[in-house]
Amino acid sequence: MEIDRRALFASLGGAAAVAAMSHEAKADALEEAQERALNEAVARNAAAGFPTVAELDAAIETRPIRRGAGSLFYNSNGSNMSRLPAMPEAPDFMDFWRLRWTFQANHCLQSAKLAQDNGLDEELVFACLTHDLVHSLMRADHGHWAGQLFGPYVSERVAFAIRHHAALRHYADDAFGYEYPDLYKRIFGEDFVPPPHMQAEYEQVRAHRWYDAPRLITVNDLYAFDPDARVDIADFTDVIGRQFRQPAEGLGYDASPVAHMWRTIAHPDAPL
Ligand SMILES: [Fe+2]
Ligand SMILES: [Fe+2]
Repeated sequence: MEIDRRALFASLGGAAAVAAMSHEAKADALEEAQERALNEAVARNAAAGFPTVAELDAAIETRPIRRGAGSLFYNSNGSNMSRLPAMPEAPDFMDFWRLRWTFQANHCLQSAKLAQDNGLDEELVFACLTHDLVHSLMRADHGHWAGQLFGPYVSERVAFAIRHHAALRHYADDAFGYEYPDLYKRIFGEDFVPPPHMQAEYEQVRAHRWYDAPRLITVNDLYAFDPDARVDIADFTDVIGRQFRQPAEGLGYDASPVAHMWRTIAHPDAPL
């Protein structure tokens, strides 16, 4: 996939900003740019229509990886893996952000900024900031993986919002100005019908007093990467400090029921 080097540098804040990036961050940025270019190519092709569920199903046998795999476990460009930077002994949220979530960070940051600009409360700004970080570990059923990963460290409402945003994406809601995005016709197929368990989850969440929380993630989710948006994670330091309960032992070492999930993200090269 051809990448416009100048546009890529500009989107990352210029040559000086690129020079200051770690090797890993540069590799991730390149990967993201390639994925974006691929998405744009797919979008151009989609002018002729969206794929069907059957066409997407047929493509399973054309790839070396499953679509649900987390981004830490393969290179979308097919090249060999690079060595990941070492994690500190007691890693915190920001260590994961800097060293393991570089590929998801931009999307989540832009969603959080949009949520903040739209005047959402701080819990929901934080929920937007974290809603897709679990893509590093697992894409399949990512709402539930994300809700579980963050559950022990955030408020119940934040966990609820993250857990259910993935199901709500499939259901339009005029009252919130949420239309079913073309992106999902592309990803899931134009004739995709949510399976019964997702329909049941939607109905349960629809009737819940916190329905607006996951719904507002879908409203502030970004369905197209904005290369012009400049958002800095430093702008959210206070939000993270108030919304995320950092375990003193470090994420992965606090004996919580999800500690192994954090360790897997920290050490995806572990053989077993
Ligand atoms: Fe998501
Ligand atoms: Fe998202």
